[in-house]
Amino acid sequence: MLGMCLGAHPLSAQRVIPVPLSMEYGVGRFQPSPKTGFYTNVQGDEALALRDCLAPIADFGRQQVRDKMGKNTFALLLCPQSESLPTAESYTLSVTPQQVVVRATSGAGLFYGIQTLLQLADNAEGKIVIPAVEIKDTPRFEYRGIMLDVSRHFFTKEHLKKQIDALSRYKINRLHIHLTDGAGWRIQIDKYPRLTDFAAWRKGVTWRDWCKAKKIYLPEGHPEATGGYYTKDDIREIVEYARRHYMTVIPEIEMPAHTEEVLAAYPQLSCSGEPYKNTDFCVGNEETFTFLENVLTEVMELFPSEYIHVGGDEAGKKGWVTCPKCQKRMQEENLSDVDELQSYLIRRVERFLNSKGRKLLGWDEILEGGLAPNATVMSWRGEEGGIAAATSGHRAIMTPGAFCYFDSYQDAPLTQPDAIGGYLPLEKVYSYDPLPSALTAEQAKLIYGVQANLWAEFISTPEHAEYMLYPRALALAEVAWSAPGRKSWPDFYSRALRAADELKAKGYRTFDLRTEKGSRPESQEPVSHLALGKKVIYHAPYNSGYAAGGEKSLTDGLRGNWTFKDGVWQGFNAPERLDVTIDLEQSRKISEVYADFIQVYAPDIYLPVEVAIAVSDDGESFRELTRLFYTVEPMKAIDFKRFGWQGETSGRFIRFQAKADKKLDGWIFTDEIIVK
Ligand code: ACM
Repeated sequence: MLGMCLGAHPLSAQRVIPVPLSMEYGVGRFQPSPKTGFYTNVQGDEALALRDCLAPIADFGRQQVRDKMGKNTFALLLCPQSESLPTAESYTLSVTPQQVVVRATSGAGLFYGIQTLLQLADNAEGKIVIPAVEIKDTPRFEYRGIMLDVSRHFFTKEHLKKQIDALSRYKINRLHIHLTDGAGWRIQIDKYPRLTDFAAWRKGVTWRDWCKAKKIYLPEGHPEATGGYYTKDDIREIVEYARRHYMTVIPEIEMPAHTEEVLAAYPQLSCSGEPYKNTDFCVGNEETFTFLENVLTEVMELFPSEYIHVGGDEAGKKGWVTCPKCQKRMQEENLSDVDELQSYLIRRVERFLNSKGRKLLGWDEILEGGLAPNATVMSWRGEEGGIAAATSGHRAIMTPGAFCYFDSYQDAPLTQPDAIGGYLPLEKVYSYDPLPSALTAEQAKLIYGVQANLWAEFISTPEHAEYMLYPRALALAEVAWSAPGRKSWPDFYSRALRAADELKAKGYRTFDLRTEKGSRPESQEPVSHLALGKKVIYHAPYNSGYAAGGEKSLTDGLRGNWTFKDGVWQGFNAPERLDVTIDLEQSRKISEVYADFIQVYAPDIYLPVEVAIAVSDDGESFRELTRLFYTVEPMKAIDFKRFGWQGETSGRFIRFQAKADKKLDGWIFTDEIIVK
């Protein structure tokens, strides 16, 4: 593999995202002039479209078009497949002082060569300069995706097209749009007009306002109605725009859950038959399948994508247990539980999609109850779903929450606009390797690619969406495209700084890496204190799903980062919440006892309303040191607060209790009880 020669063109070397497979700078540079010619063997409209892509560096008129290669030309050449052009998206780029040549086996490859070229070009005092370079490049993964959630908040087609411009520049080739969810249906379906004249509109501009307004929908045109949807023409425009950027748009139509909006508009599709009651389609009702097939038929007319995403995530399946129609279906089909009932629906929908020449894609819950025979799994609850799919011969796309959920905070939360929680800085996105080491080489071939998801519960403006996307999408692009051996965090970081500046100059609102604060300072160094390593007696259990370090967690010296899911914060949801005694093993002089708590609104984690700290010599009779009361601000998206006592005392046992607000009935999370 050829290395980068940083000496020759230090600035250009810092530019290309994703980093190419090999890149060797030569001597000199190419400078386009009004006499520079253009040659391609691509035919028809595609030739013109590709030529237009070069406009930022060379504005070719008709008179510059040549009928053969020669000196002082840009050439875009379609070539047969070869060792240096192994896939349809591979390209080579050769820049010498005499000419610029991009070679590929398809328009997509030529397009990617052009994107690299555009990033390399320097505009020096109005003159374009391209360093001499030889590049061979090919993607690591075929599927390189970004998902935009347009249900929780509606984003215009112009917003989508603007993101296609930016994302395709970094060789992202799939745009997955989450078109339907409880917060609003976003695509015109002629057979079911209430989906867009009712289910696309709600009370409450923001998702949180809508939650406060009891999640009601309103007819289009109602003075309080807010929302929107894409007409069929809008969709055609988005799909065509994406196609011209060698990007495939994958529609997601959620089923059987995340369908409250459909069930409000067409309550006969729910188990109760009433609006605002159920969250899942009734699988016992044939009309559900008629509806789904009719909707998918209209969707397939608009989207030529190989894949149709059918959601499949987070079904409560509650209504199915008592619904006579669902129970009858289970009996007739010999289904032993509601997981198998979901699987029945997904398999049936898969047969329908396959019969139309399409493939089914779904979130990893479609594995539960048995995976449909030809389905591809999008693994979001960690990598396990993707691994399970690949080991059973199915394709998988990796999108684990810890690395790929761009709705997470990207910096210290209290410095950031509200987000759903989590903590996903650029470096963590960059660190992701979508190929799990558990897979054999053969199974690894089934890892089709990787995707980042921008869920929009907390994202109500296009500016905020861009802020969450960039520059993290650039890190994802490099994860998806570049060979692992070519990746380097410090090198990427400097390229990302520059790319973010370019995006900003083009009118994108990006997160400012230069002001990044980083991890929670407390989480960076273990803390030493009197209770370190001492036994903790739990009078109420921690939740096993959020055990952190188990019984040692609250005295292991480890402090949590900005997310409660980091395996350091311990979670409590038993009625008493936090109630522990720490045994210091001998009586000690004590001057301080405290613990930090985290609040995250979206998953119902709140600060405590009452904290009591007491000390004892014998573990039986306790002296209260303090009892603190606090009024929780329930709508605060995230918060951190220390509750503690300072003074002079002594004792062997410390009891620490933290209670939850009864009305909110949420979780309590803490990371360490510190005794000094
Ligand atoms: C998901 O985040 N529910 C796919």
